[in-house]
Amino acid sequence: MLSVYLPLLILVAAQVQSHRPTTTADGRSCPQIKLKSQWGGKPPRGDLYYQVRPIRYVVIHHTVTSECAGFLECAEILQNVQSYAQNELDYNDISYNFLIGNDGVVYEGTGWGVRGAHTFGYNANGTGIAFIGNYSNKLPSPAALKAAQKLLICGVKQDELSNDYALIAASQVITTQSPGLILYNEIQQWPNWVSDPQK
Ligand SMILES: *[C@@H]1O[C@H](CO)[C@@H](O)[C@H](O)[C@H]1NC(C)=O
Ligand SMILES: *[C@@H]1O[C@H](CO)[C@@H](O)[C@H](O)[C@H]1NC(C)=O
Repeated sequence: MLSVYLPLLILVAAQVQSHRPTTTADGRSCPQIKLKSQWGGKPPRGDLYYQVRPIRYVVIHHTVTSECAGFLECAEILQNVQSYAQNELDYNDISYNFLIGNDGVVYEGTGWGVRGAHTFGYNANGTGIAFIGNYSNKLPSPAALKAAQKLLICGVKQDELSNDYALIAASQVITTQSPGLILYNEIQQWPNWVSDPQK
């Protein structure tokens, strides 16, 4: 029943809050996650590579696509992102473990425990989470930021992520602007962000 009210709660919470970093009040609940089958994703094209859990790194990205604020809009972008990865980059699957829309919904990519192809050197021991849009000069919606934080809390509770996982921006470890400078500034305020990923 809670899951039915969760989007509403997030929406209400989002309206009350400013853009300041937030801690999720209800750490017990996981965010709403739309599975790949629900957004019209295709199956992986090759073998899956399972990760050793719990995972030590969380790597934040942005997709540098347009943004989306509703399911159909997000689904279309997700299908394009997956198609680009599979057909142009010749990857098995969509690159990220999870993607987050400005509708505050978490969309399943490869999911927990399945290796993505988001960050060279961190694909085996990292979970890649991408915000849908370009966050060089703006923040994702409050609902999206909140959903990401809930996903991290949920991941720890479910033993998918280490208790002391290290949160980093892709730009800290590979040559990329991702997740955009404004979003990079935001995640530096979040629990578990580390300035030096090697420590
Ligand atoms: C992302 O947004 C910034 C700021 O608006 C812009 O300069 C940049 O070209 C965008 N990136 C891409 C790949 O479109
Ligand atoms: C995991 O993360 C470290 C960063 O400390 C990286 O250098 C290393 O290559 C990664 N290990 C594996 C097995 O992917």
